[in-house]
Amino acid sequence: MTAGRIRSEIVGLGFSVPDRIVTNKDLEALMDTTDEWIVSRSGIHERRWIAGETGASDLAVTASRRAMERAGVDAGEIDLVVAATITSDYFFPGISAQIQDQLGLKTVGAFDIKAACSGFIYALSTADQFIKTAYAKTVLVVGAEVQSTALNVSTEGRDIAVLFGDGAGAAVLRAGHNERGILSTHLHTQGKYLKELWCEGPASRFNPRISKEMIDEGRHYPSMNGREVFRHAITRFPEAIREALDANSLSLDDVAIVIPHQANFRISQAMAKNLGLSMDRVYSNIHRYGNTTAASIPIALTEAVDEGKIKEGDIVILVAFGAGFSWASAAIRW
Ligand code: ACO
Repeated sequence: MTAGRIRSEIVGLGFSVPDRIVTNKDLEALMDTTDEWIVSRSGIHERRWIAGETGASDLAVTASRRAMERAGVDAGEIDLVVAATITSDYFFPGISAQIQDQLGLKTVGAFDIKAACSGFIYALSTADQFIKTAYAKTVLVVGAEVQSTALNVSTEGRDIAVLFGDGAGAAVLRAGHNERGILSTHLHTQGKYLKELWCEGPASRFNPRISKEMIDEGRHYPSMNGREVFRHAITRFPEAIREALDANSLSLDDVAIVIPHQANFRISQAMAKNLGLSMDRVYSNIHRYGNTTAASIPIALTEAVDEGKIKEGDIVILVAFGAGFSWASAAIRW
């Protein structure tokens, strides 16, 4: 590596999920579904849903505090915040403003990224560019979502309602001059499929942004064409991993672990099968948290490190696919 070349290193991780556990049995009481259906289609056994008035920023702030503590980084050292969420507390501004305020950071740049399930990798990639160009030395990257209050928790919305959970994960990135750190990121979008997984309102296209008619028609709930999502996801996940490996002249054998966005256990299995990768090198915690959109990768990464599944020098691949459609990868030397 060229002397002096800057690389972004992850120096601290943390996550936060609500205390309230919602099991598949709990959902059986709310809609026409079964534990067996949910587990066989998604691998999910339970998820965390907020209770009371909790916003994505509250989970984000707790996760960030934990990541900063582990990194040994004080509020005054953070010089940029990049937060990924599609469920900000308010219509505007984004949760990054609340994160800046509640963590007592300096008046640093702070902005949100709305790239759904790929959001954390988009945020990581953005932070990486700011570090590599020496704009920032220490960046807080967060993925946070409160999905539960957006769901149609009834038989009508059961295809989506059973999948999603709330949570937040955070990473502190720091400029380093070592072999370790982010080796590459790749980002993709194919907007022609945006209506296959989306939430129509409230939105600037409409005046008013949300109407009684839209609510009566359920257009304020997320909607998904599950088959199309599945079809694209099982192609894009392996493709994105291959792109990350090729860019770094690595092979699958070099990879210690793949941390995929926790979309659905069946999608992770199909991805692994396509690549010829054994499932013991594919991290999964979807059975406990469901799909937490932009939060799923930093939560999974934190748990994988805590469980000793990632050691110094390991090659770790982060990979995501979701609404947009968007997909992304990050290759990291730990
Ligand atoms: N409980 C019970 N039944 C349900 C539920 C539920 N929660 N949700 C849907 N169903 C019913 C449907 O109404 C349908 O019934 P019908 O046949 O009487 O019309 C039936 O189950 C469809 O189930 P399957 O026969 O398994 O259909 P299919 O093979 O198309 O699978 C599924 C549907 C499971 C949604 C599949 O397309 C899938 O896994 N897609 C991926 C979706 C996903 O995981 N998205 C993650 C979020 S996006 C992201 O993060 C990338």
